[in-house]
Amino acid sequence: MTTAIAHPNIALVKYWGKSDDRLMLPASGSLSLTLDVFPTRTSVALDDTLAHDAVQFDGSPAQPAVADRVTAFLDLVRERAGSRTHARVTTRNSVPTGAGLASSASGFAALAVAAAGAYGLQLDPPSLSRLARRGSGSAARSIVAGAAVWHAGDDRASFAEPVGRGPALGMVVVVVRAERKKVSSRDAMRRTRESSPYFDAWLRSSEADLDAMLAAFARDDFTAIGEITESNALRMHAAIQASRPPIRYLAPESLRVFDTAERLRADGLAAYATADAGPNVVLLCREGDVAEVRDEVVARLGLPDTAAIAAHAGPGAHTVPDARDAAGAQGAAA
Ligand code: PMV
Repeated sequence: MTTAIAHPNIALVKYWGKSDDRLMLPASGSLSLTLDVFPTRTSVALDDTLAHDAVQFDGSPAQPAVADRVTAFLDLVRERAGSRTHARVTTRNSVPTGAGLASSASGFAALAVAAAGAYGLQLDPPSLSRLARRGSGSAARSIVAGAAVWHAGDDRASFAEPVGRGPALGMVVVVVRAERKKVSSRDAMRRTRESSPYFDAWLRSSEADLDAMLAAFARDDFTAIGEITESNALRMHAAIQASRPPIRYLAPESLRVFDTAERLRADGLAAYATADAGPNVVLLCREGDVAEVRDEVVARLGLPDTAAIAAHAGPGAHTVPDARDAAGAQGAAA
């Protein structure tokens, strides 16, 4: 059995749109921060007696759609390993699933590392990132610690690697609603590509944002990083909202968080807002400002049900050395 842990990542320059649906190649590059909160822990154990994979998700058998996605992913791993053996997969997520908080990124990054280990594939980090990409595009970036850039390109070129420089960053995750999103990012990406008149403009502007973002990291320019982050997120949502039938992920509460970020900046606390395919908003700030940004956003929002979680740069997906220990912890939590 191999157990792996991975954390979600939040993109500062977003991935929205594929150039190849099967290979999960992004139509443009993206850049993200892997966090130190909401880990996913996944164990993969090969079992000769199984006629199909047995997938446990948060303590119960996975929904058929989830189990099918895991099996499709394991088929890729088995093909590379020359194996026909099925596996027991046990996953625990501590991120609200399907609420636009990147549970698929941590989930498939952890599964890629655990499955590669269990099936005996020796993969370097770029190869693990390419493999994780096939499960969920954004998972390619959760292989990497801290700031990661995921390249567009063909199957070989499209992997994530460390940005390797830039200011120390922090994030505050503002959970306005933890419910499941209405349209999956996979379906919504396709609908945006097929029906949004702004899709091509989004791709062109996002490519320019990635170049500007990498330059801002290289010169340690936090203000530029924040400004590009907030603008890039709003451009992605503009392209999504222009789909037909329309898709709108941002809720009234989400917009209040964007407004609060603007007010914090006016008062001298540098925080910039971003949001993925859901209503929750993440504030980007300097690492040393995380606690203050969290306290201020809670105080100013005045939404009693809103949780704000402080986060910092976290580790890339990795195996847990003592697998028995991990199994014990899972048993205790079940
Ligand atoms: O990999 P997916 O299907 O979870 O897509 C993620 C897309 C966004 O989270 C909205 C943007 C991003 O770059 O993470």
